[in-house]
Amino acid sequence: MTDSTPATAPTTAPASPKDPWALPDVSGLVVGVLGGTGDQGRGLAYRLAAAGQQVIIGSRAADRAVAVAAEIGHGVEGADNAECARRSDVVIVAVPWDGHAKTLESLRAELAGKLVVDCVNPLGFDKKGAYALKPEEGSAAEQAAALLPDSRVAAAFHHLSAVLLKDTSIAEIDTDVMVLGEERADVEIVQALAGRVPGMRGVFAGRLRNAHQVESLVANLISVNRRYKAHAGVRITDI
Ligand SMILES: NC(=O)c1ccc[n+]([C@@H]2O[C@H](COP(=O)([O-])OP(=O)(O)OC[C@H]3O[C@@H](n4cnc5c(N)ncnc54)[C@H](OP(=O)(O)O)[C@@H]3O)[C@@H](O)[C@H]2O)c1
Repeated sequence: MTDSTPATAPTTAPASPKDPWALPDVSGLVVGVLGGTGDQGRGLAYRLAAAGQQVIIGSRAADRAVAVAAEIGHGVEGADNAECARRSDVVIVAVPWDGHAKTLESLRAELAGKLVVDCVNPLGFDKKGAYALKPEEGSAAEQAAALLPDSRVAAAFHHLSAVLLKDTSIAEIDTDVMVLGEERADVEIVQALAGRVPGMRGVFAGRLRNAHQVESLVANLISVNRRYKAHAGVRITDI
């Protein structure tokens, strides 16, 4: 020990672990859905808006978004993808994998500073069924993060069935939502959004480098659905 070394370590209060289920109030956030005229976007927009969230769906054509928004109701608005991104706090990406990179590249400015939530599953289909593609960046979510350096990127909502989401006769969506991201605060916002939908629970499931297997699992769920004529989802046990 040198003269300058204290004999005892300074006393600091032990950090209390944060309750993982203590999530922020997200009721005031505007949620945009790029590609919100499609099945998944429509379904998510309906569920979030029915839960009281302000939702704007985006499209490559504003008039298409306005027409679909009117069909969904619950105060959902429609706009072109750029306006949807500009006016939203949280932007869900629900376009097909084919159009993913091009869509995000074209909206880089509008998405700057926003929390972008990718739900895109890069899949291929052949006579054996669905299979996971291997994006160069590792996953769709990592591609989004690479293309949007000025946005905060998370990934979630991959395992939901659009058929169930859109079905207005179903009151609760019985599923967990695996949420991935780099910043705890961002992940918790997405968990809280998922939790606004009755029956749904948002669960932290790791960083974006682990998004590939979450996206890929949809190929397995499609196999399940085909065999059992179901709309399978995912539940995480023991939490
Ligand atoms: N369907 C599901 O059950 C489900 C579940 C979980 C996750 N997902 C993921 O969600 C995404 C959307 O799925 P979906 O079934 O809703 O797809 P979809 O209906 O085929 O497409 C969604 C919307 O994206 C727009 N779009 C189509 N091609 C595009 C392109 N090349 N570039 C930009 N926009 C394009 C279209 O809107 P406009 O023509 O109005 O622009 C379309 O309505 C996919 O990546 C999928 O992996 C789907």
